[in-house]
Amino acid sequence: MAKEKKLRSTEWFGRQDKDGFAHRSWMKNQGLPSHLFDGRPVIGICNTWSELTPCNAHLRGIAEKVKRGVYEMGGFPVEFPVTSLGETLMRPTAMLFRNLASMDVEESIRANPIDGVVLLVGCDKTTPSLMMGAASCDLPTLVVSGGPMLNGRFRNERVGSGTHVWKFDAMVKAGELTKEEFMETEACMSRSVGHCMTMGTASTMACMVEALGMGMPGNAAIPAADSRRQVLAHMAGRRIVDMVKEDLIPSKILTKDAFENAIRANGAIGGSTNAVIHLLAIAGRLGVDHSLDDWDQMGRDVPCLVNLMPSGDYLMEDFYYAGGLPVVLKKLGESGLLHKDALTVNGETMWDNVKNADGHDPEVIYDMDAPFKQEGGIVVLRGNLAPDGAIIKPSAASPELMQHTGRAVVFEDIEDYKERVDSDDLEIDASCIMVLKNCGPKGYPGMAEVGNMALPAKILKQGVTDMVRISDARMSGTAYGTVVLHAAPEAAIGGPLALVQTGDEISLDVAARSLVLHVSEAVLAERRKNWKPVHPQSTRGYVQMYQQTVMQADKGADLDFLQGGSGAPVPRDSH
Ligand code: FES
Repeated sequence: MAKEKKLRSTEWFGRQDKDGFAHRSWMKNQGLPSHLFDGRPVIGICNTWSELTPCNAHLRGIAEKVKRGVYEMGGFPVEFPVTSLGETLMRPTAMLFRNLASMDVEESIRANPIDGVVLLVGCDKTTPSLMMGAASCDLPTLVVSGGPMLNGRFRNERVGSGTHVWKFDAMVKAGELTKEEFMETEACMSRSVGHCMTMGTASTMACMVEALGMGMPGNAAIPAADSRRQVLAHMAGRRIVDMVKEDLIPSKILTKDAFENAIRANGAIGGSTNAVIHLLAIAGRLGVDHSLDDWDQMGRDVPCLVNLMPSGDYLMEDFYYAGGLPVVLKKLGESGLLHKDALTVNGETMWDNVKNADGHDPEVIYDMDAPFKQEGGIVVLRGNLAPDGAIIKPSAASPELMQHTGRAVVFEDIEDYKERVDSDDLEIDASCIMVLKNCGPKGYPGMAEVGNMALPAKILKQGVTDMVRISDARMSGTAYGTVVLHAAPEAAIGGPLALVQTGDEISLDVAARSLVLHVSEAVLAERRKNWKPVHPQSTRGYVQMYQQTVMQADKGADLDFLQGGSGAPVPRDSH
């Protein structure tokens, strides 16, 4: 008979010496009875609850439900907090701290008597930061997303998180909405617990959790306020105890096949561009062979099936009622676009989990042969303007701009953009291409979501709603437009984007996967000689470390020394 693996928690709680005394005694001040220290699996519940992360503010309640499940199966649950990254409040951008939070998660798990871990996530960066940290430890891990908010509603119309902020803002600028009406919509948009309910980054990453096999079936779409979200958390608590017994660790689930499933799922849901950078970073922690080009190759044949904002009309609550992600994965499987044998946290294969899924609303989840949008995946563009790649999400772009040549109007950084964009003196028309520099990982530490820069007021007043925009920045998953992002190498380290000048001609050709700056090599070489970085580097603390070690967008923008993992050996005891 196979010998059961010794639980790492017994190194703390199983000892009969003074160290074991110390480990147990202080825990007992919480009213914990002795039998909890009898060698049963200790399950960490890694919680990103915070009142400063409103999307995750209900996660204490979710943790309680996970605990119920853990207790039922004879485990010992211990909830602990980690750095929580709130998208809406943190400055300069929550993404600056994704890697820092991942270090917190990794070291918190490794340093403590934990045998398996449930990650409670929700708001955009909380999902990748916890998955990255846990992947580097490689203990049995199950992800529970907090769930999306209920549909927003204003004057009987659906209002989508984020997406309608851009829309309403543009309407105010165009004189179609008063400031008072704009203020009224705030409460209409966010009317329950949960994260953004558009197919923004949070919903996308919740879908990625499910498509990667790291969450329970149904993880992505159940609204946060729906009691079935609590049932899912309860069942996750039950399951993680068995995962520990089975030694079902992330490296057995997060294989190359799993990432390919996720890429295709992202195409089919019209998911956020941010998924690219996060999945590259998670794969980097596990040493999985996963590159930017996989996104183009794997996503190429995937149509967008899901009619959700920002690309479409509906919201996550509708997606849940329509059957949610299992329906989408089933359709991919039936079309040969799913690795059916990929293992998932419940011990079943991906196909076993989704093969019986039923779709209930063809307006929300379309069929493969008559999709919502023909091109669903992320397109990777290359050319002399982005030799290491840039990306665009065709499902959120304007079809008539997918092949476009225009005159560049350049903004040197985000401050320059803010200062001049609405000026009457700005020489720009709708055929121009807006270029924003110095917003990449190092240039605007954290790579802010400013790539979908708002159009100049005078263009909006003409009724124009989209123009080609190019930058080394990211874009909010709730945003839309013909926006080229993540240009690498970035301007701040002298990438070609740094050399573009107003008046240059640029061609974007999405079908040809190309992004070309029509300036001769000789002229570019001359400009390169005169190029100097525009922003000083930070000289202390985490930001200095970040700027010195962050990798480019095409590598996932992780810190170079965090790639890979160290597993979870039991650290030495210093008592
Ligand atoms: Fe938290 Fe959108 S702001 S998910």
